[in-house]
Amino acid sequence: MKKPFVIAIDGASSTGKSTLAKGLAKALDFAHVDSGAMYRGITLYAQQNGLLVNNEFNTKALLSQLGDINLRFEGDTFWLNGVDISTEIRSMQVSESVSLVSTIPEIRSFLVVQQRIMGTDQSVVMDGRDIGTVVFPKADLKLFLVADVNIRAQRRFNELNTQNAPTTVAEVRNNLVERDHLDSTRADSPLVQADDAILLDATQFTVESMRNHVLDLVAKRLG
Ligand code: DC
Repeated sequence: MKKPFVIAIDGASSTGKSTLAKGLAKALDFAHVDSGAMYRGITLYAQQNGLLVNNEFNTKALLSQLGDINLRFEGDTFWLNGVDISTEIRSMQVSESVSLVSTIPEIRSFLVVQQRIMGTDQSVVMDGRDIGTVVFPKADLKLFLVADVNIRAQRRFNELNTQNAPTTVAEVRNNLVERDHLDSTRADSPLVQADDAILLDATQFTVESMRNHVLDLVAKRLG
């Protein structure tokens, strides 16, 4: 079997990582793993099981139940213990607590093990915060996405709005800024650009031009 090719895409929320990752995976016929969805899945599980109420977090109970949490990607559908949670994990309720959940080292290592397995026997595009630094430090191609915060807030607002969620652009922007801070300053696996990652400013590209630019980079690396 050919050695899998791993593309690691990191960056803050709503910089267009998942859109880029999905487009690349489709064009290259690679698997796509949205690692943020996995942190969101654990957060939703904690909320559904009364382990996370108003940001009061029963860490000990959640850690003791990690073995009961089965997360699975199937195309664009994301499953938690056999239930499709693809839409629910995007709610503001989950967004408001997910950074807290993702500071917990035991939860990170639980998910990192699963993420590494997904890049072992198949070529993959994985997006998140620590993919190029922690999950796949030897990834074949590493990208780090940045974008203007106002554009990011509008993007996330538009996504939420199509799901009829009651919120405002300002509220979404505040949540993004707060999460940027938490994600970049946490002790375990903070959001940082890997030394060998290529910086891409999403504000400078259309979705299509960025995908084509990265496809050129992949073609060069594949030789
Ligand atoms: O990309 P996103 O907004 O769906 O990610 C949700 C949260 O999950 C984000 O606030 C930080 C966390 N996360 C992480 O800590 N590590 C990753 N590899 C991916 C996401």
